[in-house]
Amino acid sequence: MTDTRREEKNFSEKPSLLTYGGSMERDLHQRDRVGVQDFVLLEDFQNEQAFIENLRKRFRENLIYTYIGQVLVSVNPYKWLPIYDTSTIEYYERRNFFEAPPHIFALADTAYRALTKENRDQCILISGESGSGKTEASKKVLEFIAAATGHKKQVEAVNVKLIGSNPVLEAFGNAKTNRNDNSSRFGKYMDIQFDFQVSLFN
Ligand SMILES: Nc1ncnc2c1ncn2[C@@H]1O[C@H](COP(=O)(O)OP(=O)(O)OP(=O)(O)O)[C@@H](O)[C@H]1O
Ligand SMILES: [Mg+2]
Repeated sequence: MTDTRREEKNFSEKPSLLTYGGSMERDLHQRDRVGVQDFVLLEDFQNEQAFIENLRKRFRENLIYTYIGQVLVSVNPYKWLPIYDTSTIEYYERRNFFEAPPHIFALADTAYRALTKENRDQCILISGESGSGKTEASKKVLEFIAAATGHKKQVEAVNVKLIGSNPVLEAFGNAKTNRNDNSSRFGKYMDIQFDFQVSLFN
């Protein structure tokens, strides 16, 4: 994950935000043309400048996610983007990893599928400097899992349990760093357990 504030001045904000909802297929096509959505496809893959330039190009179009194979690179947009709504969750629930644009939901979906279909324990490692968006990313994973568990009645309870745990942990006090005035001191490790019916257990 990358903190973009130092370079923020160079990024002109574009009003034309490509969304995941609505005319998805057309958007997908458009998205393909903004740099490469997987660094594996980068021609000059050993060139750091080319790597940064691809991130920058995509970031200018509010495309904050890019893959390196199965690894997701995320750039903190420091602004609200309409890419985490219910329709986006549903979109990623119905698609395989490489069928859809890079997204934290795609990662969460892949982990959830492997857990439910292959009965394999899953681990999502989120790394990056302070303020790069790790805690926000973990919340998005929890949001996705809360929705994906699918038991309509329980979803509300699951939401309360999972999403609600963050403010509780943060209430113990967060630190302030140069990059983040809400830096995490608690909740560095989350363990989510499911029962044999793959509903949320703990
Ligand atoms: N995907 C996102 N969309 C919009 N804003 C975001 C996103 N990710 C992060 N931010 C913003 O950046 C701030 C810092 O992010 P976050 O707290 O997740 O950083 P962190 O990597 O957990 O830092 P630390 O290591 O200090 O705990 C958030 O409070 C939020 O305002
Ligand atoms: Mg944090």
